[in-house]
Amino acid sequence: MKKIEAFIRPEKLNKTKDALEKQGFDCISVSDIQGHGHQKGVSEVFRGKKYMVDLLPKMKIEIILADKDVDKVVEIIAGVSKTGSIGDGKIFVYDVVNAYRIRTGEQGEIAI
Ligand SMILES: Nc1ncnc2c1ncn2[C@@H]1O[C@H](COP(=O)(O)OP(=O)(O)OP(=O)(O)O)[C@@H](O)[C@H]1O
Ligand SMILES: [Mg+2]
Repeated sequence: MKKIEAFIRPEKLNKTKDALEKQGFDCISVSDIQGHGHQKGVSEVFRGKKYMVDLLPKMKIEIILADKDVDKVVEIIAGVSKTGSIGDGKIFVYDVVNAYRIRTGEQGEIAI
């Protein structure tokens, strides 16, 4: 099992969620976060406006999934989020040790 943590532009969230659901990836966690990449202190365009700020609003998406699905989900998220401009975001992949579905007591991949 793996965890995908993706930092994306807020305006890409709905399209990303729709694309994931269409491919059968229903379970997702989303948080509003602030962050910056390598252009700290350099202006970035957000919703049509140029900002000279330290931290910019981004969305963090977390998805736990089977190893075999990682490439597909990375492709979906990157496909929706790429504009080619700085600040498009990043995707990180982590190993997941176990998963538990609280209601049933199931564990492992079946509990994802
Ligand atoms: N190494 C990192 N650790 C934690 N969060 C990160 C890291 N890199 C990026 N992020 C998060 O991802 C968001 C988007 O990063 P961003 O796309 O600007 O990365 P970048 O490396 O500067 O790439 P680009 O040059 O395309 O802008 C950041 O605002 C931050 O929230
Ligand atoms: Mg950047």
